[in-house]
Amino acid sequence: MTTRTQDGSAGDVDYGSIGAGYSSYRRPDERIARFIAEALGGAESVLNVGAGAGSYENAAQAVTAVEPSESMRAQRPARLARAIDAVAEELPFVDGEFDAAMTLFSVHQWSDVRAGLREMRRVTRGPVVILTCDPALVRDFWLYRYAPEVLDTEARRYPGVETLSAALGDTGTVQTVPIPLDCTDGFNEAYFGRPEYLLDPAARQACSAWSFVDDGVRERFDTELRRDLESGAWDEEFGHLRRQATYEGSLVIVRATP
Ligand SMILES: C[S@@+](CC[C@H](N)C(=O)[O-])C[C@H]1O[C@@H](n2cnc3c(N)ncnc32)[C@H](O)[C@@H]1O
Repeated sequence: MTTRTQDGSAGDVDYGSIGAGYSSYRRPDERIARFIAEALGGAESVLNVGAGAGSYENAAQAVTAVEPSESMRAQRPARLARAIDAVAEELPFVDGEFDAAMTLFSVHQWSDVRAGLREMRRVTRGPVVILTCDPALVRDFWLYRYAPEVLDTEARRYPGVETLSAALGDTGTVQTVPIPLDCTDGFNEAYFGRPEYLLDPAARQACSAWSFVDDGVRERFDTELRRDLESGAWDEEFGHLRRQATYEGSLVIVRATP
């Protein structure tokens, strides 16, 4: 049974508290959208679970969105369909209703990822597409030097790619998604070559892992990163990333067909 907050949030974070401003910092990136569109394989009817403010919905033709948080539903642009208030673990659709289904940056928050993915498989005739982070790779990022607690949180929250594939009948393939240097979707690794951006508290708040650590971690991160940027220490070690067009980090698409 999924527990929900007053805002309706059904995952491990309350978007009633941290959701405001999400859509300003998490704007869909058109290059990542192309990977999602390709994985959907030209499907006409697409279900988007944990749809949030509607990022990447233009990668599909006819989208049905499911989003439990009122704060996130309220950030959906008027041109998109209204999202249905429901949870992944109990989808209000009949078997095989959609050509394809997607869930983007969401599975790590669900209370029962296996149940949610079983539901997605049940209501989908074709591919189920998951955009997520591989927990085995999240610590391989410079941020681990400055805020290990944040990436330890990520590594703990993200389900392993084998778990995701197994829940979808073991037919999953895993593809690394290259992150562009000027990525518009502000998840942590999107700032791989622009460390200054993570000094903005609102940018951090748009990545839910930061809400799991205490003020001391955030303050230490801010102090130490500022110090290393001013002294040139960050650039000495990681400055090549400022000139790297894309970064292959933990961002992956898991795609499974029936
Ligand atoms: C990081 S946001 C991603 C939103 C959107 N997919 C995007 O790419 O911007 C995670 C979303 O998953 C939703 N979510 C959390 N638990 C859920 C559940 N059990 N069922 C459906 N959605 C859930 C949250 O409310 C939130 O909107």
